Amino acid sequence: MSAAQRILVLNGPNLDRLDLRDSNIYGSMNFQELSAFITAAADELGFAAEVRQSNSEVEIITWLHEAADAQIPVIFNPAAFTHYSYAIRDAAAMLRAPLIEVHLSNPLSREEFRHTSVISGVAKGTIAGFGPNSYKLAILAMKELI
Ligand code: DQA
Repeated sequence: MSAAQRILVLNGPNLDRLDLRDSNIYGSMNFQELSAFITAAADELGFAAEVRQSNSEVEIITWLHEAADAQIPVIFNPAAFTHYSYAIRDAAAMLRAPLIEVHLSNPLSREEFRHTSVISGVAKGTIAGFGPNSYKLAILAMKELI
């Protein structure tokens, strides 16, 4: 049997504190539960997911470089970096396997500053607004892509 395809599931700032954020917007899972949900969903579709979270732009850029060098597909919730980090966008543009952007909430139905994503333009597509299922749908889409 061949080894499961690796995917990186990267998460940006404040997602480690989901339990303290507005559950009407982000749902009731804490980050540990979300990670387990993502890993199980990936496993079902034959992926070995590595779920990572960082509050540091530098660390996320380093992970994107790692994914680019190893040609690993990436599912990415850039959190607030979505809306303004050109450095993360430039790193994401160098990926050599598909990138899918995800959000728990639907940023387009929220404050105006969330309506801009500087990441979308370098992603294959974006899935937003379905809570943890946004990640599950992204894994399904990734399966179709590769
Ligand atoms: C988010 C949406 C962003 O606007 C916000 O800054 C986040 C989480 C989401 O998953 O809905 O931290 O990316």
